[in-house]
Amino acid sequence: MTNPNFSVAPISDMHVIGIPGSLRAGSYNRMLLRNAHRLAPKGMELSIYEIGSLPLYNADLDGERLPQVVADFKQALLGSAAILIATPEYNYGVPGVLKNAIDWASRPAGKSPLNGKPIAMMGATTGRWGTLRAQLQLRQIFLYTRSHVVMEPEVMVPQANMKFDETGTLIDEETSKYIQMLLEGLADLVILHRQAATQQSGS
Ligand SMILES: Cc1cc2nc3c(=O)[nH]c(=O)nc-3n(C[C@H](O)[C@H](O)[C@H](O)COP(=O)(O)O)c2cc1C
Repeated sequence: MTNPNFSVAPISDMHVIGIPGSLRAGSYNRMLLRNAHRLAPKGMELSIYEIGSLPLYNADLDGERLPQVVADFKQALLGSAAILIATPEYNYGVPGVLKNAIDWASRPAGKSPLNGKPIAMMGATTGRWGTLRAQLQLRQIFLYTRSHVVMEPEVMVPQANMKFDETGTLIDEETSKYIQMLLEGLADLVILHRQAATQQSGS
């Protein structure tokens, strides 16, 4: 299924960092990311980056000599074409671990690895609202970081405990289709960015 809002262009050499907003070993959101790897368009590679070892954000530690785990994280983001977030909703909002990772990645403001970065998001919850409120908060956060967020589809997976089989494979066809559309939208956004960068360097 292709996104009708964009022209189809070849996808190549597109490495996407997948960030789960949950540290739980059996996380449904990490499962979503693993399935996204399978559902991604040809030419898109997805690897999962774990954010649990990042220290709590402290501006005193944020400077030229970053903690190594933070430097590695920022380097990984810089080296990626795009970011895919899969997050639960905690108390109607973005889980602290994810917000913490975004805060580290967001500095220096205006010149951070998030600046101009194509980002797609999705979320799974055992609840009924499918992480809607957490995703809205993320969209607001990514305004400040000047990131470029895929507008639609909004991929929300309520009652996630019923959507995977015992091997972690997504068994819900509709959700699978939406993830495919989201990833195609992300690929189109990366291609637009690359085209704009080529035009700028040629002018
Ligand atoms: C601290 C905490 C707060 C939660 N708050 C919400 C919430 O506001 N809305 C919701 O739908 N589910 C909420 N949940 C349920 C989570 O969405 C559910 O546990 C989900 O499976 C967690 O994601 P994971 O499977 O990727 O770890 C909460 C869970 C925890 C542990």
